[in-house]
Amino acid sequence: MYSFTVNGQPVSSEEDKKLMYFLRDDLGLTGTKDGCDSGACGACSVLINGRASNSCLFTLAKVAGKDVTTIEGLTQRQKDVFAYAFAQTGAVQCGYCIPGMLISAVSLLKKKPDPSDKDVRKGIRGNICRCTGYVKIIEGIKLAAK
Ligand code: FES
Repeated sequence: MYSFTVNGQPVSSEEDKKLMYFLRDDLGLTGTKDGCDSGACGACSVLINGRASNSCLFTLAKVAGKDVTTIEGLTQRQKDVFAYAFAQTGAVQCGYCIPGMLISAVSLLKKKPDPSDKDVRKGIRGNICRCTGYVKIIEGIKLAAK
């Protein structure tokens, strides 16, 4: 039995499987996106004990006893701030990468509340976006930090 929390709620599974599939298929938390299933795109990012991590690279055995936060588990204030900042800067096109971007941004802003462009680039280096060219996403994260 693998037990841990997801968005503050205790969960468990008899079967070991990838965290990404457990979140999406068993818990219906489809904000965690399946992009590459191999740790290359960051679309599946979640916070594990507060740190941005690719949920496709973690089994339930690896997260047992830990706290997992998905995009659905961000606070309303975090959601409102990022929605405003990303709308203002035009940071969203297709939107597929955005949940993972926001998870990485939350993790970054916890460590660096007033990040430089370089800090933001480093913070989202594991998240691929095929639409925007990153400039507006970086502006959006910096606006959210203000
Ligand atoms: Fe996990 Fe791409 S789906 S990194």
